[in-house]
Amino acid sequence: MAGLEPQVRVYQNPEVLAHAAATLFADTSNDAIAKRGVFRTCLSGGKTPEHLYSLLAQRPYRDLISWPLLHAFWGDERCVPAEDLNNNYRQARELLLSHVPVPMENIHRVRTELDPELAAEDYALVLRRNAQPPLEWPRFDLILLGLGDDGHTASLFTGIPLDLKKPAMAVQAATANPPGWRVTLTPEVLNAGRRVVFLVQGAEKSRIVANVLYGGAETGQLPAKSIRPVDGELIWLLDQGAAANN
Ligand code: 6PG
Repeated sequence: MAGLEPQVRVYQNPEVLAHAAATLFADTSNDAIAKRGVFRTCLSGGKTPEHLYSLLAQRPYRDLISWPLLHAFWGDERCVPAEDLNNNYRQARELLLSHVPVPMENIHRVRTELDPELAAEDYALVLRRNAQPPLEWPRFDLILLGLGDDGHTASLFTGIPLDLKKPAMAVQAATANPPGWRVTLTPEVLNAGRRVVFLVQGAEKSRIVANVLYGGAETGQLPAKSIRPVDGELIWLLDQGAAANN
């Protein structure tokens, strides 16, 4: 097992969980800026981070973060137009990025106007332009991930090759919600992160959380198990519902 043992932090309800996540986001940003002068974060899509994004756009959190020094990337994106309700960039822009002073050039979205394979290649170039050698991609200070009922994370779904030596790939997510093409970062990029955070809430996720954390299934079956930072922290932020089977 690469890296440190996962830390599991359980909070009494989704509200307290979102505030804990906002505090961790702010603390991580300040630590990264103090050490490296910049904060590179990889955002997640899905429903769970919505409240976190809204909180970060409000006081006290919005005053705790040096937004001009933040660079935003995405762990995955749905291949729908940037104005589509299902677009992860749009979600983060609406809830957070349009309310705080992050320079446009620091917002690194997946260009979903391209076809999926081209969008993945283009995003690999974006990652390379922001790389920290010897890596060919950024070593993210904070990566936010969610967890699907089927054990997927980002858009790494069961049956999709996980050992690809490329930073981003286009995948056809037939079983996902919404179904369709996605662009996702690969485990190699996610596992280079300094702090990787699964943010998961709700009793409906408790079985899959326990399976990923403690079950014996192979990573191929539960892609979220492939997230094991090589030289970084893995933190699970859960509410009591999601931790019910731990
Ligand atoms: C996406 C996400 C995906 C998500 C999980 C959990 O773009 O859909 O990146 O991996 O995190 O599907 O989604 P919920 O938070 O909606 O349960």
